[in-house]
Amino acid sequence: MEILTRVAEMKERAREIVREGSSIGVVPTMGYLHDGHMSLIRRARRENEVCVATIFVNPTQFGPNEDLDKYPRDPDADRAKCMEAGVDFLFTPSPEDIYPPGYQTYVTVEDLSGPLCGASRPTHFRGVATIVLKLFNICLATRAYFGLKDYQQFQVIRTMARDLNLETQVIGLPTVRESDGLAMSSRNAYLSPDQRKQALCLNEALEEASALMKSGEKDPRKYLTAMEDRIIREPQARIDYLNLVDPESLEELKEVNGRGLAAIAVFIGATRLIDNRILSP
Ligand code: PAF
Repeated sequence: MEILTRVAEMKERAREIVREGSSIGVVPTMGYLHDGHMSLIRRARRENEVCVATIFVNPTQFGPNEDLDKYPRDPDADRAKCMEAGVDFLFTPSPEDIYPPGYQTYVTVEDLSGPLCGASRPTHFRGVATIVLKLFNICLATRAYFGLKDYQQFQVIRTMARDLNLETQVIGLPTVRESDGLAMSSRNAYLSPDQRKQALCLNEALEEASALMKSGEKDPRKYLTAMEDRIIREPQARIDYLNLVDPESLEELKEVNGRGLAAIAVFIGATRLIDNRILSP
């Protein structure tokens, strides 16, 4: 595995690979890799001649009072995991190289960036779309892989790729969960053992919603109440949002007729966790 830290170097290596006619599978991450990331890397490894993992804690997707400075990092463990998984290139650029002085260009995917996480994190998806487009261009990604735990992020990126006629194929893979159902997330590292137990309320709230869909319930308010009832049982849980939306447009459902996306963001203590589930009858 080759470790590259400079944008120019990565670009040059990617150009050589493309010149040889090989495909490049890219897994963009912010590091602190868990099994969810590893499932993306394994898939990228399988489907492409060359596999690139990127680690970059992207400042432009964090709001002023968010956890940029304390975002968990473990470069040695990440390097070992990538090596073991057969990553060919690990790209770990610096913020100065990605956003040099004078940097002023951002990508906004308008409607999809507004609801759900966008409501409490108004500049988040602009930062995500911008860094992801830059990584696609730097790594000359044939395919890029994202986890569906960040479902809204996936829709934003997929729509950006469609709207801007990008060459990169955007692929979403199912959320990987711990054995008790907690969605894997680098931010789970912030939780105390007691908070870790309370965090199960996210997945369990989604299960309540799923059961309602199976029972044929049509009133979205019933879904929201059931999810809320489950979450507020936990003393340290504070709801940021919970909603039932159309899985494509992310617009709130007025009536449930077929598929819906139940999406939630909950603070457990100071840690904000998200989870979601596509519900179908
Ligand atoms: O999902 C993440 O880890 C990040 O949002 C991403 C896609 C790597 C962009 O910084």
